[in-house]
Amino acid sequence: MLWEIELRKMEEKKLRRYLHPLLPLAPHRALSRGRGMVLFCSNNYLGLTHHPRVIAAVQKAVARFGTGSGASPLISGYTELHQELADRLARFKGTARALLFPSGYSANVGLMSSITGPKDVVFVDRFAHASLLDGIKLGGAKLVRFRHNDIDHLELLLSRHRGRRRFLVTEGVFSMDGDTAPLAELATLARREELIFIVDDAHGTGVLGPQGRGTLAAQGVDPEGIIIVGTLSKALAAAGGFVAGDENLIDFLLNRARSFIFSTSLPPPVVAAAISALRVLEEDPEPQARLRANISRLAEGLKALGLPASGETPIFPVVLGSEGRALKVASLLFAKGFYVPAIRPPTVPPGTARLRVSVNALHTPYEVNSFLKALAETLKEV
Ligand SMILES: Cc1ncc(COP(=O)(O)O)c(C=O)c1O
Repeated sequence: MLWEIELRKMEEKKLRRYLHPLLPLAPHRALSRGRGMVLFCSNNYLGLTHHPRVIAAVQKAVARFGTGSGASPLISGYTELHQELADRLARFKGTARALLFPSGYSANVGLMSSITGPKDVVFVDRFAHASLLDGIKLGGAKLVRFRHNDIDHLELLLSRHRGRRRFLVTEGVFSMDGDTAPLAELATLARREELIFIVDDAHGTGVLGPQGRGTLAAQGVDPEGIIIVGTLSKALAAAGGFVAGDENLIDFLLNRARSFIFSTSLPPPVVAAAISALRVLEEDPEPQARLRANISRLAEGLKALGLPASGETPIFPVVLGSEGRALKVASLLFAKGFYVPAIRPPTVPPGTARLRVSVNALHTPYEVNSFLKALAETLKEV
């Protein structure tokens, strides 16, 4: 069978992936086959999945709305709770409206495939997420990738593509590198060159800026005219995605975005979790403050080991090069009780296999320090 041959090839190249069922104990701890592990890989940055207020809101929503929404949003799957979350997200991001999608992946696919078409050119940062690329490919536009965060390269490419409708796509926080895009400069360029500007802030939402409003807010960029994508699945402790933008964009998407129209809407308890997480963010500065403290602690420790660590965000890439090396380091760390899977191509470019270390608000200083010690030992061994 074709897939058996392909699987063998993946195995040989050390690119085959496996599922590892975990039994979660806390936002940063789990049992793996009965063994206690500390996780340094989750996107649950604020640990809100286990916050008492969020759990209580979910329990209340199950009792009131049931477990599932039962239909797509344009049929009967759109509840008052969905509308409340969409309104809150629009206010949180400073846009007129927002639209919920079943996942961040489907938000990007639905958005990009419906607003771009074969006559358009889309300029995309080289490190942008697969879901953005999939949406662009589905829409049939010409895809032009510029070097990561390189405005000079982008300007050069823009000068070669005039006379067509043009889009600019980047991430707020890059998911595998943890750095941020220069959004103020990009927004200025987008205005000057009349580009439609899209920012996927999956990893900035809840993490950066006042009350976790995201990377645009953190950099003081006015969201007017910018299309923002986000997820509920990371700092917001739930699942689902959203697009935030102006009235017409949202009305257009709910008429055209196929991943919105042809998929059952989010289960109400999941919506309730995200609403509650937003409330916590707006009312309680502590989770963000604890996350900041842990980011600084981990950044200092990594720097002391001679590893680059900007400490801008909770994501720290430890680039190891080959797939074999990344797998080895991950498995040695696993043996020491730390769960940080190796990230390999195509998630990251060839030759940059890595550990994507992420810290959250609930790690204790002891856990961070023990992880740093284990990482130092492991890197010496490999
Ligand atoms: C930058 C970025 N965009 C979109 C997504 C997709 O979001 P979700 O996991 O909610 O589908 C992810 C994460 O998986 C991401 O890292």
